[in-house]
Amino acid sequence: MKIAIGSDHAGYRLKDQVVEYLKASNHELNDYGVFSEESADYPDLASAVAGFVQREELSFGILICGTGIGMSIAANKYKGIRAALCAEPYSARCARQHNDANVLTLGSRVIGPGLAIDIVCTFLGTEFEGGRHSRRIEKISLAEKLMNRK
Ligand code: RB5
Repeated sequence: MKIAIGSDHAGYRLKDQVVEYLKASNHELNDYGVFSEESADYPDLASAVAGFVQREELSFGILICGTGIGMSIAANKYKGIRAALCAEPYSARCARQHNDANVLTLGSRVIGPGLAIDIVCTFLGTEFEGGRHSRRIEKISLAEKLMNRK
């Protein structure tokens, strides 16, 4: 499993903690930054991580901003990206089982590092259930095609 991670300035500290955890767990990780608390625009990082997930098979993205909302809105503009904003593990589990989410977004001003890491572990450790959920994901893909989004 390949993982890309990115944050804006508001998410930088939490990103570092998540990166440290994932590296210690031997995950293959591409860190797109940012690498300081200098002001950064979340759509730029969402674009980088979404691009990685579009290109790489069996990959996931993690995006962190102050609320997780901006990252979620921005990432979901990219074809094939299903980004889910989660603030607890139950939603993270369902985002994978039901929605086949491939990007997790987190709000650093909403949750602390312990909860964030629980959410990340749940997200990365849960499989898509397929079945009836596949039909629904296909309808989302069809909507993307009809809207001709990139
Ligand atoms: C930055 O202040 C903040 O707006 C951003 O991190 C994010 O919360 C946007 O959704």
